[in-house]
Amino acid sequence: MQIEGSVVRLEDRIDNYVRETKFPRSLFVSEDGRIVGTWIMGNDYRVKSAYYGGYPAGYLRRVKALFPDKRRVLHLFSGKVELDALPGDTVDINRRLRPTFVDDAQTLEHVPLERYDLILADPPYSVEDAERYRTTMIKRNAVMRALRRAAEGTHIVWLDQVLPMYRKDAFAIEAVIGMVKSTNHRFRVVTIFRRLGRATSEVSPSKAGTRVSQRSSAPAPLS
Ligand SMILES: C[S@@+](CC[C@H](N)C(=O)[O-])C[C@H]1O[C@@H](n2cnc3c(N)ncnc32)[C@H](O)[C@@H]1O
Repeated sequence: MQIEGSVVRLEDRIDNYVRETKFPRSLFVSEDGRIVGTWIMGNDYRVKSAYYGGYPAGYLRRVKALFPDKRRVLHLFSGKVELDALPGDTVDINRRLRPTFVDDAQTLEHVPLERYDLILADPPYSVEDAERYRTTMIKRNAVMRALRRAAEGTHIVWLDQVLPMYRKDAFAIEAVIGMVKSTNHRFRVVTIFRRLGRATSEVSPSKAGTRVSQRSSAPAPLS
C-alpha cells in the first residue's frame, strides 16, 4: 500500500485494519463510497485507566490501524487517553488531567489545529455525562465549527451517540461504524469526517478572488 503523501483508498484502510488488528473483516465500502460496519469490542472492553467514559480497550488500536498514513495525532476531549496505544497531543478543559493544551473544544483558540492530520474526539454524550466531569454539556456544532480550522485532508474520528451538525461543504463523512461494547452498555457510533477544501464563504476577503479546491468526489451527505 502507498502511504505517506498519497491518497489512501478506503479499501486499503480496511485491508490494513484487518492485517494489523487480526480482527474479523467487519468493515466494508458501501455503494455510496463510505466505510460502513460494526465493531464488537468483545470480552476485553474495559477502560485501562478506569476513567469514566474512557475509550474501551482496543479502540485506539483499531483507529490506528485504519490510518497508517497519519503522523500527527490530536486527542480532543482527551481525559486519560492511553497515549501508548496512539501517541499524540491532547486537549481537555480540565487542567488537572495535564493535557498538552488546556482549552475549550468549542473554540480551540490555543490549539494549532492545522498541524494535525488525525483528530480523535470523544465528547461527553449527555448532560448527565458532562456532570461527571463537572463541565457543561458541549454544543457539538460549535466543536465542528472550531474544527474547520483543520487542514484539508485531516480526518476527524468522532465517537458519540449523536451525529454532530456540520457543514457539508467543509466536511465529508467517510465512515460510519457502529460500536457495541457489551450488555447494559450504550451503543455508540464512530463517525469519520474528512476536512474538505475550504469553502468560498470561509476564504478571507483578501483571498476572495482566488480559486478554492472543492472535491467533487465527496460522498453524498447523510442527511
Ligand atoms: C468521554 S471523556 C473522554 C475520555 C477519553 N477518551 C479517555 O479515553 O480517557 C470526555 C472528556 O471531555 C472533557 N471535556 C468536557 N467538556 C469539554 C470542553 N468543553 N472542552 C474540552 N474538553 C472537555 C472532560 O473533562 C473529559 O475528560
